[in-house]
Amino acid sequence: MPTLRQLAGPTGLRIGAAVDVNALATDPGYASALGAEYDMVTPDNTMKWVTTEPRPGRFDFAAADRLVQFAHTNGMLVRGHNLVWFEQNPAWLDQAATGPGAAGRMQAALRRHVTALVSHFRGRVAQWDVVNEAVGDDGSLRPDLWLQSMGPAYVALAFEWAHAADPAATLFYNDYGIEEPGAKSDAVYSLLAGLRARGVPVGGVGFELHVTGPDAFDPAALRQQMARFAGLGLQVAVTEMDVRMRPPFSSAQLDQQAADYAGALEACEDQPSCKTFVTWGFTDGDSWIPGTFPGYGDALPFDARLRPKPAAYALQATLMSAPPAS
Ligand code: XIL
Repeated sequence: MPTLRQLAGPTGLRIGAAVDVNALATDPGYASALGAEYDMVTPDNTMKWVTTEPRPGRFDFAAADRLVQFAHTNGMLVRGHNLVWFEQNPAWLDQAATGPGAAGRMQAALRRHVTALVSHFRGRVAQWDVVNEAVGDDGSLRPDLWLQSMGPAYVALAFEWAHAADPAATLFYNDYGIEEPGAKSDAVYSLLAGLRARGVPVGGVGFELHVTGPDAFDPAALRQQMARFAGLGLQVAVTEMDVRMRPPFSSAQLDQQAADYAGALEACEDQPSCKTFVTWGFTDGDSWIPGTFPGYGDALPFDARLRPKPAAYALQATLMSAPPAS
């Protein structure tokens, strides 16, 4: 059976997975399956602030460097994830965001961080999730450490600094819940339209696609949302797909999960601005789902013993029927 990356190659699509660097270092089976099946990787956690800048101005790229090296050795592209988020920040940064002088302090910290990371990986990270999940479910900017200290200007500034550090990288806004119509998707659309109109170097929008149950995904809605964001001149990408389920993981559930993966991939294949399809992990043994959503599991295309599930076969079939890259 050809691997996913062998099938994706001729279609011009990159197929990727979020990677747990510990599994990569300790589990040879995981590393070889990853390198065989995928041609793009993104770190699940190792490029986040808490890992890369544990103390102010003291950067640690050791874990991320190992992943980027693995990608290079295996002919894979890297998505950098992420530069600005409200979670997984070091305590010193959360503290810097409050009290007198917070605006200037946070602006300086953000500029230093974005510049350090993007410069360090210049030429080796093809896409960056620059701003992650900045919009809340009601459509307003999240009242997080960035908004509270710097106001809404932090969004454009982060893109400008990232672009200055690596003009060749494609810079993404990344979020969940924008695959459906509604207040959040509209707000992200307006935000990105405004940034584009002002010449801010945002080049793409990432649809995370964390699907909450196999029946909860509507590929037709995803297609419509992708089309309107593409209309802004943006690349669109599936960046974090998983489809969580509750036991007993019946074959009917597994088949619906497979249809969800196939539907999302097909939406990407049919959208000329979509060149990237990434799942959040690739085996049920390296998924964040059981730990973060107790009672759920089985969200990925391969099982914990690296055997393909119906979802993996559905991805293969979808790639096989895709038109060659034009
Ligand atoms: C998750 C990681 O997978 C977990 O290991 C961690 O505990 C929390 O973050 N949206 C994102 C990702 O953009 O960074 C998140 O990753 C999943 C949701």
